[in-house]
Amino acid sequence: MLRRLHHEQPESFAFTEANLKWAEAQISKYPEGRQASAVIPLLWRAQEQEGWLSKPAIEYIATLLGMAEIRVLEVATFYFMFQLQPTGSIANIQICGTTTCMICGAEDLVAVCKEKIAAKPHTLSADGKFTWEEVECLGACANAPMAQIGKDYYEDLTTEGFSDLLDRLAAGEVPVPGPQNGRFSSETAGGPVVLADHVGTGSQYNASVQLAVDLGDTVKRIDGTEVPILTPWLQDAPVKTPSAEEVAEKEPRPAKGEAADDTGVTEQEAKAKTTGNPKTDG
Ligand code: FES
Repeated sequence: MLRRLHHEQPESFAFTEANLKWAEAQISKYPEGRQASAVIPLLWRAQEQEGWLSKPAIEYIATLLGMAEIRVLEVATFYFMFQLQPTGSIANIQICGTTTCMICGAEDLVAVCKEKIAAKPHTLSADGKFTWEEVECLGACANAPMAQIGKDYYEDLTTEGFSDLLDRLAAGEVPVPGPQNGRFSSETAGGPVVLADHVGTGSQYNASVQLAVDLGDTVKRIDGTEVPILTPWLQDAPVKTPSAEEVAEKEPRPAKGEAADDTGVTEQEAKAKTTGNPKTDG
C-alpha cells in the first residue's frame, strides 16, 4: 500500500499539557544528543491523542526532538501501525486477514466492515465513528478469526457477533474483549484436556481481558491525564514542559538551514558525516 500523507490536513497540532509532560519524560530517558530515540513513542502518543498522524503532528514532533521533518516522516510512513489518514472517532477496526483467520472467516468479517462502515478500507463511516482495515497476523491465531478494536483483541468472532459488536460500540458501549464464544482463553474448543485446573482459576476473565476490563480504556483517546508519569527519577523533580508557543519558537532544524559555510555543505549534511555509521562509512 502506498503510504503518504492525507490530502486534507488540520491547521495545527499540539500535545495536550499532560501529554507534553509525558513526552518530556520520555525524552529525558535518553542521553543528551540522542533525543531522536523517543520518536516512536511520541508519534504513537500523538496518534493516541488524535486518532491518526497529521502533517502538523509530524512537524510538531520533529521540532520537539530537534529532528529533520523528513526523518520523522520516514518513521511515520514506514510503520503500518501509524495511521496517516483520519480514523473513526470511536475506533479503527483492524481485521486480521492472515491464513488462520482467513480460513476461519476473516473475509466474512471484512464483508461486515464493507457493509456497515465503508466499502473501502481507511475510509470514514458516514457517521464518522469507524474506519476499518485488513492487517497481517496479530498473533492470536488460536482464537481466529479476530480483530483488534482500539487497544484490545476481540476473538473467536462470528459474522453476527461481530456485527453486533459494531452496533454496541456505535451506541457507546465497550464490549468485553477477548474470546466471544465463551472460551476463557485459547484452550481447545471442547474444553481443556491438560492443565484443566489452571483455566479460569480465581478470575472471571483471562489475564489480558481482565487487565483490559480493569483499565477500561479500550477505545478511549489518550490525553495524558489517565496514566501516571512513570519515569521514576522524575517523580520528585518538576519536569520542564515548554508551552506550545515555546516549542514552535525553537531554533530551526538543520534540514531547514542554509549551507553552513562557503563549502556549500549544509549543517545537516555536516552532521551526517560526523555522526555516520563507521561500519558503512568505511
Ligand atoms: S492469522 Fe489472524 S491472528 Fe494470526
